[in-house]
This record gives sequence, C-alpha cells and structure tokens, in this order.
Amino acid sequence: MARSKSSTQWLKEHFSDPYVKKAQQEGWRSRAAYKLLEIHKKYRIFKPGMTVVDLGAAPGSWMQVAVSLIGGKGQIIAMDILPMDGLADATVIQGDFTEAAVHQQLLQALNGKAVDVVLSDIAPNMSGNKSADQLKMIYLLELAYDFARKVLTPKGVFLMKAFYGEGFDVFLRMLKQECVEVKIIKPDASRSRSAECYVLVQGVNKREKPL
Ligand SMILES: C[S@@+](CC[C@H](N)C(=O)[O-])C[C@H]1O[C@@H](n2cnc3c(N)ncnc32)[C@H](O)[C@@H]1O
Repeated sequence: MARSKSSTQWLKEHFSDPYVKKAQQEGWRSRAAYKLLEIHKKYRIFKPGMTVVDLGAAPGSWMQVAVSLIGGKGQIIAMDILPMDGLADATVIQGDFTEAAVHQQLLQALNGKAVDVVLSDIAPNMSGNKSADQLKMIYLLELAYDFARKVLTPKGVFLMKAFYGEGFDVFLRMLKQECVEVKIIKPDASRSRSAECYVLVQGVNKREKPL
C-alpha cells in the first residue's frame, strides 16, 4: 500500500530530527525525554525520594527521566494503554485511562501515599479529524486533572501535555482559578509546527478529599 503524503513527511522529519538521533545515542526510549529534561532544568520539578505518577507513559522516556532524577528511594508508577518495557524502580500498569478500573489500579499501587508529581503526556491516537481529536484530548486532560486533584500533596506538581484549540482556553481558565501557579511551556524539543504545549500547575487549591 502506498504511503500517504503526511506519513511520508512524518517519516522524513522523524529520521532527520536531531532529538531522535540524540535519544538513540543517549539511551532514551524516545525524543520526548528532552522535553521533560528541559522543563525540569528550568522548573526543578523532581527531587530524590519523590512519588511520581506518569500517565500515558509508553514507550517510557519520561519514566526513564523521572527514575534517573528521583533515585532509588522514590516511587514511580507509569501507566499506558499500550504495553511497555518495565524499568527497575518503576511499576508499570497497562490499561485505558478512561476506565475507572485503571484509576483504582493506580490508587491501589499508591497504597494511600500522596503524590509529589503527576505527569500526563497522554495524547489520543490522531484520527485526522482535528475537532474530534481535540475533544478527546480535552476529555483526557480533564480525567488526568481529576486524578491529580485526588492524589497530589498540597504543593504537588501536575505537568500535562495539551493542544491549543477548542476547549483549551476554558480548561486553562479553570486551572488558573483552582491552582496557585499555572505556566504554559513550549519546550525547544516540541516541534514548532505542532499545536502541542505543556501546562505546569503547582498547588491545586481545590484538591479533592486527600487519600
Ligand atoms: C506522546 S506518547 C507518551 C510518550 C512518553 N511520555 C514517553 O516519554 O515515552 C502518548 C501516550 O499516550 C497513550 N494514551 C493515549 N490514550 C490513552 C488512554 N486512554 N489510556 C492510557 N494511555 C493512553 C498512548 O498510548 C501513548 O503511548
């Protein structure tokens, strides 16, 4: 079957991407590692011994970054709908984050422990229908935020991938009302033509009842 124009363009871009080459050389599972490393360099979100939940974690480069920055004493729980290779010092859960059973599995793995950092790099499979994809993304973001509100410590950090587009401004306004600090970040490693950005939130005021 012939490749579509967009997939040919994606492959070309992928193989000439300096971050892809660097990730292969430095042992990160994907180029996404550099986005988190850059965000951490600027905002210092990880400290040794922290408890971290990584939502939408496959193939696992953010999990690798988190493990390397929190050291052996912390706890990392990584979750994705796709199977992924494990890593020493991390617990991997496979499941669909839109299912309540998966939230329960995450809570069970935490065993009552409050979380210092919730990461969400979740992005739905893109169908090509921009408006439908954006709706799915906002839904996943809302689910991730609800989860973060349940598990974060009072000063906990929630870092999430988002896409500019329908629903983003409303979601952002809510975060600004409910959280102490809200920052929008476009890391260098995030492709400039992509609508992707990251939102870093600290201190969720309207936390749901703590664990
Ligand atoms: C951009 S990738 C994450 C990359 C990852 N942070 C890394 O560094 O390797 C987005 C991930 O979101 C996952 N995802 C999308 N929808 C999901 C869902 N409903 N439940 C769980 N994971 C989901 C995808 O399977 C994909 O692995």
